[in-house]
Amino acid sequence: MSSLLKLNHIETHIGQYHILQGVSVEVKKGEVTVLLGRNGAGKTTTLRTIMGLNPASKGSIVYKGEEIQSLPTYTIAKKGIGYVPEDQGIFSGLTVEENMKVAIQIDNEETSKRLDYILNLFPDLKKFWKKPGGLLSGGQKQMLSVARAYVNENELLLIDEPSKGLAPIVVEKVMESIMQMKEQTTIVLVEQNFYMASTIGDCFYIIDDGRTVSNGLMKQLKEDEEMKRKYLGIA
Ligand SMILES: Nc1ncnc2c1ncn2[C@@H]1O[C@H](COP(=O)(O)OP(=O)(O)O)[C@@H](O)[C@H]1O
Ligand SMILES: [Mg+2]
Repeated sequence: MSSLLKLNHIETHIGQYHILQGVSVEVKKGEVTVLLGRNGAGKTTTLRTIMGLNPASKGSIVYKGEEIQSLPTYTIAKKGIGYVPEDQGIFSGLTVEENMKVAIQIDNEETSKRLDYILNLFPDLKKFWKKPGGLLSGGQKQMLSVARAYVNENELLLIDEPSKGLAPIVVEKVMESIMQMKEQTTIVLVEQNFYMASTIGDCFYIIDDGRTVSNGLMKQLKEDEEMKRKYLGIA
């Protein structure tokens, strides 16, 4: 499978802090690539660097054969990279419908088809269509956040810890919807929930102290107790 996105020795500074100090990741088309690592390891910063929100100070990011590390965020987004931030990034004062409308970049027939597909994938959003985003449960907010990125014709989705703060039964639902999206989109998933990460992921990268320290196939990591203990704190 061919590479859709490649991070080559990325370094990122935030203010005076040298946060990423060598992150290299290859994302293959059609796969779910999972970024793992302890709290504060640099996973969110890696996604923000891809989006140009915390631009890289060194290294290159190649998306579909083109270097994007110096482009502004809106240009990167327009190239077909959708971002679902850790804090969900929805508008609590806007209705679900309005949240979706604001997210839509191009409104054409294709978009309404995608919207129909999404509302089948997330029936709760249909149910709460005219209700303010702020009234949704944690799981529904997460689904709205994913739907907002998914409604556009993105070829790549970056999803940051979708299971965070959700009850196990809701995690299961979010997992199912990501599994379905996987059929049509390439995904980079940051996920601390190892059950979810290992169920959905095809391959993994471990980030530790701002560096990628290991990578491979998810099915290998599942058996590697030593690695899980060392970097993920899983006994
Ligand atoms: N705006 C910021 N200013 C200073 N330090 C930051 C900022 N954002 C993140 N960091 C630091 O960068 C490191 C990596 O953070 P982050 O990428 O959010 O980690 P993760 O998502 O893996 O938990 C942490 O030590 C965090 O404190
Ligand atoms: Mg994070």
